[in-house]
Amino acid sequence: MIIETGGIKLDTTGVANFLDQAELDAMKGPVEKAAAELENGTSPGAEYLGWLDLPDQIGASELAAYQATAIRSQSDSEVYVVIGIGGSYLGARAILDALGGSQPGCPEVIFAGTGLCSAALDKVLKNIEGRDFRLCVISKSGTTLEPAVAFRMLRGLLIKKYGAEKAAGRITAVTDQARGALRQLADQEGYETYVIPDNVGGRFSVLTPVGLVPLAVAGVDVAALVAGAQSMKKSCTGGSLADNPANLYAATRSVLYQKGFSTEVMSTFHSGLQTVQEWWKQLFGESEGKGGQGIFPASTVFTTDLHSLGQYVQDGKRNLQETFLCVHQAVQSLKVPGESEGGANLDGLDYLVGRSLDDINWKAYEGTKNAHLSGGVPCTSLECEELNAEIIGGLLYMFEKAVGVSGRLLGVNPFDQPGVETYKNEMFRLLGKP
Ligand code: PA5
Repeated sequence: MIIETGGIKLDTTGVANFLDQAELDAMKGPVEKAAAELENGTSPGAEYLGWLDLPDQIGASELAAYQATAIRSQSDSEVYVVIGIGGSYLGARAILDALGGSQPGCPEVIFAGTGLCSAALDKVLKNIEGRDFRLCVISKSGTTLEPAVAFRMLRGLLIKKYGAEKAAGRITAVTDQARGALRQLADQEGYETYVIPDNVGGRFSVLTPVGLVPLAVAGVDVAALVAGAQSMKKSCTGGSLADNPANLYAATRSVLYQKGFSTEVMSTFHSGLQTVQEWWKQLFGESEGKGGQGIFPASTVFTTDLHSLGQYVQDGKRNLQETFLCVHQAVQSLKVPGESEGGANLDGLDYLVGRSLDDINWKAYEGTKNAHLSGGVPCTSLECEELNAEIIGGLLYMFEKAVGVSGRLLGVNPFDQPGVETYKNEMFRLLGKP
């Protein structure tokens, strides 16, 4: 089946040889039931369904507030350091990377607190040396170790550079309305604050201030992003498998999972989509991987990874299903040049002269898909017309809706993440946390 909506084409014809139509038809009832449970708020984890309606709820006043924060940052900062981990940074970073980074005249947006590796934090510290910067610290719980450590260090530097009062004016905290150490600190120090709604979990929070504040500062057209999500919400509400992309995607990957295709590799040919893949991995891994169940989400960036993982995908254990995430229209248009004077086509590339790299890359995608299909990998494609805020907003919303449905098909609560606490407890025990 093929569904085209919001500048995205979902093509599941590549799974046809791996499942019977009857198996897909049998999914129709469960998928529609799962989608209805989400839409009428009766799904397990219903207290975390706030993300469903975010595209319709973000109005002019919210957009104006983000814009005001953005203008202040753009007027006095070269760098905007976003501190957060997991769902508290991946959405903003995914969209920013996909769109090629900050717009001209806007601060460079960089990320800290995304781990405990001192080399990574050191890189951030070197980047801000001698440059005007602001901090945006994002944590729903307000107690997560990685961002808390990074914030303590960076806040110290900010105070050293600007003095305590001015430093406080350069900090934005995005956190819970009332709870947590960050809320307490922000209120005490008078930071600008934005609230993460109680009913939106971290991995579903890209359309809250968690994603929208850093993106506005980077000059992303946040209104277009929300509009794209809003229009995709319509396409993903009601309807059957044949015209609802979230339902179709959820249904095909679930049938394939039942048939033993237990790893889903998202493959892209666009390097800018690598962080979208990371965001998608968190969304699906954290939502589905529980109770001994779940499709393992993996990712590859081709053609680079065809020269490392291509062998496995083509010919290794046959438990892989593949979802291609592709972009038709590239921003750059580099072409293969003719030979320099005196050259004699020794590299054999004359047959490509004048062809754009993106055209060649697209042929690599088509060829790879054919090869993987012949190697026994069921393939789905998501082809974006281009990378703009509207299309990405729609794409991310479609994934959120799909994981809500597919989590229910597995019988799990897609909106909690109890397993994440286990490593934290062990780590804190070893660190001697009081
Ligand atoms: O999806 C999630 O819930 C997690 O990835 C969290 O977003 C992440 O652990 C960060 O948590 P917090 O925002 O509370 O600092």
